[in-house]
Amino acid sequence: MAVASAASTCTDGTWWVYALPALFGSDTLCAHPALLAGLLFLTTVTAALLAWAASPGGPAWAHGRGRLGATPIVGPRGLPVFGSIFALSRGLPHRALAVMARAAGPRAKELMAFSVGDTPAVVSSCPATAREVLAHPSFADRPVKRSARELMFTRAIGFAPNGEYWRRLRRVASTHLFSPRRVAAHEPGRQGDAEAMLHSVAAEQAATGTVVLRLHLQAAALNNIMGSVFGTRYNVTSGAGATEAEQLKSMVREGFELLGAFNWSDHLPWLAHLYDPSNVTRRCAALVPRVQTFVRGVIDEHRRRCQYSAAVDDNADFIDVLLSLDGDEKLQDDDMVAILWEMIFRGTDTTALLTEWCMAELVRHPAVQARVRAEVDAAYNII
Ligand code: HEM
Repeated sequence: MAVASAASTCTDGTWWVYALPALFGSDTLCAHPALLAGLLFLTTVTAALLAWAASPGGPAWAHGRGRLGATPIVGPRGLPVFGSIFALSRGLPHRALAVMARAAGPRAKELMAFSVGDTPAVVSSCPATAREVLAHPSFADRPVKRSARELMFTRAIGFAPNGEYWRRLRRVASTHLFSPRRVAAHEPGRQGDAEAMLHSVAAEQAATGTVVLRLHLQAAALNNIMGSVFGTRYNVTSGAGATEAEQLKSMVREGFELLGAFNWSDHLPWLAHLYDPSNVTRRCAALVPRVQTFVRGVIDEHRRRCQYSAAVDDNADFIDVLLSLDGDEKLQDDDMVAILWEMIFRGTDTTALLTEWCMAELVRHPAVQARVRAEVDAAYNII
């Protein structure tokens, strides 16, 4: 009993509230607001330091979060408050993570915990574990970055929270937008875009002797996605619709930069009003009305053009498909703007940059290039 009572006295963290006023010759600490503020600050800092020191994986993994499962998750502590944010905010993150995993010991290769400021993160270099993590419902919601929220991406498929609305969008995408019949019906459009791109590549080669491939790939990808989504294409060679295409390209580029930019306040929310080096808030506020005006304009044009019945053609564009939906699949205009913009945005630079990367790898590996060439020649009976 005595032991229990002594223990409770020793662990009573409020003793200083009574002891310190006596030291300063007053009845309560309230008589010394500066001292009270200082003590509160010191207590908070000490508690944060203790929690950090006791948390493998860093500050976001405090309070035993990494030890909830059968096997504790190992990982670098990083810095108090910031965790490993500085290691990831410059250079190539996958390389930085590989270095961190090597330093954290052999178990970290399978699963490693680390903190990006307030955000707890795990990374796995083991395909089986990665598959398990990606398929687990705990990871169904992806964290919504500030730029994604401000650009209204929470109404689109990629960032919508796991739930009825997201399931509806997935159903609409798989049964209507990307149904095998619709994908096949858009084939001639894709072939036309590829052919136009090859002509413009050949023209640049003839005129200058070199080709900057990325611009051709981006123009072709944008044209292709515009055709599928809005039913409009720009004439790359004649330059018809060039102003609108430039406008659209600049919006896609800005959106890509905003979503891709590392935003400190996504991980350190208390920084939100103090530090915004990429001007995310201001730039998102400027981009949203531009996108809204553009996409709504195209939707209204489609509405004016046709009266929607239950069925649309296989080669109909995405706007016509979305406008034809009925019953519980019917979408609000704001939702349509978010989904259509997501398709334009996700389908342009992804395709262009991946193709550019493949071409760069083929240049670096001439033997593979020769095999690809032989396969293509054989498929088209070119001897
Ligand atoms: C080679 C080109 C492409 C690559 C490498 C690619 C890659 C990816 C990856 C890695 C994801 C999952 C991660 C994420 O949500 O950010 C994703 C999701 C998505 N992509 Fe693509 N993509 C490509 C082309 C396209 C195209 C052409 C479209 C639309 C026309 C598209 C629409 C989407 C959508 C809507 C999602 C969200 C799906 C969901 O969260 O359920 N992507 N893509």
